[in-house]
Amino acid sequence: MPKSSKPRLVPVWDLPTRLFHWSLALGFAVAWVSGSMGKLDIHMRLGTAVLALLAFRLGWGVAGSATARFASFVRGPSAILAYLRGRWTGIGHNPLGAVSVVAMLALLLAQAASGLFASDDIASDGPLAWMVSSAATRTLSAFHRLNSWIVLGLVGLHLAAIAYYRLGKGVDLVTPMLTGRGEADDYAPPPPQASPALALALLAVSAALVFGGLATWGR
Ligand code: HEM
Ligand code: HEM
Repeated sequence: MPKSSKPRLVPVWDLPTRLFHWSLALGFAVAWVSGSMGKLDIHMRLGTAVLALLAFRLGWGVAGSATARFASFVRGPSAILAYLRGRWTGIGHNPLGAVSVVAMLALLLAQAASGLFASDDIASDGPLAWMVSSAATRTLSAFHRLNSWIVLGLVGLHLAAIAYYRLGKGVDLVTPMLTGRGEADDYAPPPPQASPALALALLAVSAALVFGGLATWGR
């Protein structure tokens, strides 16, 4: 078959990854604002939902579609260097973008987990704060406050990188995160897609673990 240079549209992000992304973006924004405004009742509910979403993403990173799997996009320094030298082709997260994805997911996980043990020292305690000493609660609350700014900074970088791709390199990353489809060279095989039913089952297990765990041990 003759090779055409015209890019074609292939599946890049599956529906579960896209729904995860936009729910995370919304959940993070509302959790950040409600936490800063001291509306800790709604803050803790939302933060817990964000934790369940992150638990889902960890599972989907192992069992999800090809581009969602950590094993397919987490790469070492040599792949990052090759990308910086312009020698990377593929779809999904590039090796450098993957570093920021992993950092965001890890620090968001630390943010939500530390919140469980935090306290405002007035009226609101995280549901697991009773399990640890008051010194540990103070330390984890301080971490929770500091890390909220670090995550906000990473999200700022994330948005700046997306804007740079659009304005500086003419690459639209946002449309694939909305529609699921993006451009690829003619012969790139479409990545295998995992079943949405598996995603639903994984989400149910993640929610049951987080909310069930807190219903059992939380106060
Ligand atoms: C209007 C706001 C946002 C836009 C337009 C946006 C856009 C995007 C796009 C285009 C990607 C795919 C990047 C790529 O092609 O490699 C992505 C991935 C990602 N974004 Fe955002 N984003 C937004 C807000 C956020 C926020 C607030 C967070 C964190 C709280 C976030 C966390 C992530 C994560 C973790 C990924 C990796 C997705 C995955 O593999 O599961 N994004 N975002
Ligand atoms: C990714 C999710 C989360 C984000 C982005 C977030 C963000 C924030 C922010 C910005 C504050 C205000 C910090 C300040 O006053 O300077 C805060 C406070 C707090 N958050 Fe979260 N939080 C999250 C998850 C959680 C969770 C899951 C819980 C518990 C269920 C929680 C419990 C608390 C508590 C108790 C405080 C008061 C801490 C203090 O006054 O020192 N947070 N959070």
